[in-house]
Amino acid sequence: MSILTNRQALKAEIDKVAEVALYLWQKGWAERNGGNITINITEWVDDGMRALPAISEPRGIGTVLPQLQGCWFYCKGTGKRMRDLARAPMQNGSIIRILPDCAHYEIVADEPVAPTSELPSHLSVHNYLLAKGSPYRASLHTHPIELVALTHSKKWRQKDVATRMLWSMIPETKAFCPRGLGMVPYMLPSSVELADATIRAIDEDYDVVMWEKHGVFAVDVDVMSAFDQVDVLNKSALIYIAARNMGFEPDGMTDAQMKELSDVFGLPK
Ligand code: 13P
Ligand code: ZN
Repeated sequence: MSILTNRQALKAEIDKVAEVALYLWQKGWAERNGGNITINITEWVDDGMRALPAISEPRGIGTVLPQLQGCWFYCKGTGKRMRDLARAPMQNGSIIRILPDCAHYEIVADEPVAPTSELPSHLSVHNYLLAKGSPYRASLHTHPIELVALTHSKKWRQKDVATRMLWSMIPETKAFCPRGLGMVPYMLPSSVELADATIRAIDEDYDVVMWEKHGVFAVDVDVMSAFDQVDVLNKSALIYIAARNMGFEPDGMTDAQMKELSDVFGLPK
């Protein structure tokens, strides 16, 4: 029996992860096992769940995360495919709880699927969000083709150069990704250094940051909203490319148009 049986609210959150996983695959952003999702499910944990025995040995996170005391997460499994997770989230991901030392976790359900190799980044970011009192409960890492391509050029890696271009392609992008796109220089995937750099970038006040020549890392209240922010950014990148493919540099919205949008919608920056 699945831990999700008779737990409708928890199941609804994990169903959102499965839905987003399918979109990632359909968009071509999730080759092989590419990308990972974690969600903080602590608010849906009940006494019955707390009484469950672990189904794994304690494993180290690689860092100590004091805000995660008593927290529970659903995590994509390492090496698991988004297209498989879309059909079977509990066979391609697992539920973990953080041990009281805040440095180890154990797997609780449904199967002993080892969490994503990017767990240090995901859990460090959840720790940061809780410390800030943020309502965000989801983090998403994926490999969107056009956004990753941008990071292969020094021009677009400079602070907020890509943000300004992407915002100016279509008004919705600033409206729905109002903090823009942060940049994290290339670092080894799954490293604690990458986790620390990701937090520094998010702390500059971004919800979405690029991992140079790798992918994006996005946070929001739930996984659907995190996906939407990446989706609007990548849509802008596609519009830019479409214009370039038609043989011209797109004008972009003017500064006055951007300012009007920000004023009317009360957007930051
Ligand atoms: P996992 O399969 O371990 O989640 O890794 C995928 C990935 O995109 C690493 O950056
Ligand atoms: Zn990746």
